[in-house]
Amino acid sequence: MSTNNTLFRPFSLKSLNIKNRIVMAPMTRSFSPNGVPTADVATYYRKRAEGEVGLILSEGTVIDRVSSSNDANIPHFYGNDALAGWQNVIDGVHSAGGAMGPQIWHMGIMDNHRSGWVPSQPFEGPSGLNRPGFNNGNTMTDADIADTITAFGRAAADAKRLGFDCVEIHGAHGYLIDQFFWDATNQRTDIYGGKTLAERSRFAIEVIKEVRKQVGDDFAIIIRLSQWKPADYTNQLAKTPQELEAWLNPMADAGVDIFHCSQRRFWETEYEGSDLNFAGWAKKLTGKATITVGSVGLDGEFLAAFGGASSNPSSLDELLRRMDRGDFDLVAVGRPLLADPHWTQKIRDNRTTELKGFSKEALMQLV
Ligand SMILES: Cc1cc2nc3c(=O)[nH]c(=O)nc-3n(C[C@H](O)[C@H](O)[C@H](O)COP(=O)(O)O)c2cc1C
Repeated sequence: MSTNNTLFRPFSLKSLNIKNRIVMAPMTRSFSPNGVPTADVATYYRKRAEGEVGLILSEGTVIDRVSSSNDANIPHFYGNDALAGWQNVIDGVHSAGGAMGPQIWHMGIMDNHRSGWVPSQPFEGPSGLNRPGFNNGNTMTDADIADTITAFGRAAADAKRLGFDCVEIHGAHGYLIDQFFWDATNQRTDIYGGKTLAERSRFAIEVIKEVRKQVGDDFAIIIRLSQWKPADYTNQLAKTPQELEAWLNPMADAGVDIFHCSQRRFWETEYEGSDLNFAGWAKKLTGKATITVGSVGLDGEFLAAFGGASSNPSSLDELLRRMDRGDFDLVAVGRPLLADPHWTQKIRDNRTTELKGFSKEALMQLV
């Protein structure tokens, strides 16, 4: 099986035209003091473009709500200074022949950051809950919800205005949008709550519709989703293919072009009786393009890496088998690209002995 044929085919969808199927996964780096991406941040992304990553997704960058972030060093996607920083980032990536979309983000209810920094208003979410039994903020009012939807739309419009190639809405990993999806954190009795996942998707759908309205028909919209939560690795929001279909198709109808299906290990199957993974099922049920992710090219997964576990390079054969079968269109790669801007070229040129593993120390600086 040829890595070159499979991973190094171009891909085009609306505004997104990329030279290969490799996507840099969004990774929070916290190197943007007061929310402003620095010149070092721009250099970090430009190096990935020089390293021939097809599509770069930015670290999560927060929308214009006072309590959308729990960390003063996470970049904003609003305000003149932060947007000027992002303009530098995208200009650098384009000058190196790359493509990029920001991952727009509202964290929802959070743990307080270890730095001691807190936003000037309490965190906000569907029901004040980050996980069962942990309340650390306010339940959003209708006005809060409406303003948040508008803020997502404004961020997407700014992404397009600055020249980004697409936008990704962060709907995964237990943050705001996912807090609406999950019944354990959405206990609302109004139209944003409900017994079914489809009912609890109303907030996400309104966000997607607003984003689509702001960017027009031809700008590619990605949404990142995960069944797993930081508080529950084995959680399944959609327990059957039928539930998955009822969850995803309304989002596709609302304007999603690409589903970015977050797993900790891409080879893990979603439902009994099939070896399809999350991205495989999403593509089969919606007909939309999908991105897979999770331990591609590494033998250990990323949450264990935060705890200090190191990972070594591993084979891409299983990934290529699934991709050749048409399970997904794009492959997101996190830690290998965080640690090594040249990972893509090494894979393309079969320089396997030069591949690096990942250890926690890589998080300490932008290389
Ligand atoms: C340091 C770090 C920061 C991350 N930050 C984000 C983030 O801001 N948004 C997001 O959706 N996922 C985030 N993730 C998850 C990655 O996008 C990716 O899904 C995960 O690392 C699995 O891919 P990998 O096994 O190739 O590293 C982060 C992962 C790492 C290692």
